[in-house]
Amino acid sequence: MIDSPEFSDNLVERIKEDGGIRWIFITHSDDVGEAINFRAKFGSQICIHKKDSWSVKDADMKFNGGEELAGHAQLIHTPGHTLGSSMLLAKLDQHYLFTGDTILTTAGGGLMANTRMYTKSPSDVMKSVRKLPQFKVDVILPAHGARSFVVEATEALKIMLEKMSGEQIEPSKDL
Ligand SMILES: [Fe+2]
Repeated sequence: MIDSPEFSDNLVERIKEDGGIRWIFITHSDDVGEAINFRAKFGSQICIHKKDSWSVKDADMKFNGGEELAGHAQLIHTPGHTLGSSMLLAKLDQHYLFTGDTILTTAGGGLMANTRMYTKSPSDVMKSVRKLPQFKVDVILPAHGARSFVVEATEALKIMLEKMSGEQIEPSKDL
């Protein structure tokens, strides 16, 4: 599970049909939701970056970035929105990048780095997203935005970085 929705009986039944939850990856401290209730129900383990781990009681895995999860998912530390904001790159039939609140989708089907909404350090968000072209990514799945995913992600990321290259980004006040 990536981040946590509200805990409900309907959802629990649905997840049971799919075989339960082994890992709960939290992209950042704002999106912990009811992860601890899902953990209790399914015996899952919660995985969150060290610097945001204050937001989860007894996190099971506190990572730095660069580690692998479940043998096919790479954990990438992308600070800025929060200190511990991170992405998960699932290397399956295609490569799926879950970006949390660091990258959002736009109405036009593109992407934007989240330098505005509830972001602690816009300049650190830009530094983080500039690291992403080094990864092979096919599909991007942000936490919010006009669309739930964007395909042809490498091209979409390139366009996003080009568009944002001329923007004035406020430096961090908090980080
Ligand atoms: Fe957030």
